[in-house]
Amino acid sequence: MKRLVLVLATVFLTGCFNNDDVDVQATDSVTLGETTFKKNCISCHGKEGQGLVKDWKKTQENGKYPAPPINGTAHAFHHSPKALLTTINDGGVILGGWMPGFKDQLNEVEKQGLLDYIHSLWPSELQKKYDEKFK
Ligand code: HEC
Repeated sequence: MKRLVLVLATVFLTGCFNNDDVDVQATDSVTLGETTFKKNCISCHGKEGQGLVKDWKKTQENGKYPAPPINGTAHAFHHSPKALLTTINDGGVILGGWMPGFKDQLNEVEKQGLLDYIHSLWPSELQKKYDEKFK
């Protein structure tokens, strides 16, 4: 009996550790994304991506739209990860906007981190819908 308990405990623990590894990796990417976001994006998209103005649909004095929130209250979650990555790489200028592109400033791991971080800002209901649609 003692041996069986030991075997079961080992199987159980090994299972746990494996799962932990996966979680740790995902968490790391979000953490890297958060650091990258704070350095490069917060000046326009605000802390935790909520934007800097109350009404992001209203043009500013310079006639341009402010950066939209990307925390799940605007429409970033309607776009596939690929489309979001394109915005991060190329910015908004080609779409008539003014967000700068980050193609050469950030590496691919940092960009994936940003996508994971942005995803982590959304309410879980949105995350679920997004994952069903895009992942
Ligand atoms: C100088 C201001 C500025 C900076 C810095 C900036 N953005 Fe933006 N961002 C914008 C604006 C403005 C838009 C809307 C499109 C446009 O006008 O170019 C936008 C749009 C986006 C969108 C699309 C949102 C949607 O609803 O589709 C994403 C995603 C995004 N930004 C992510 C980032 C990330 C990640 C960073 C940092 C690496 C960043 N932005 C840095 C101004 C900025």
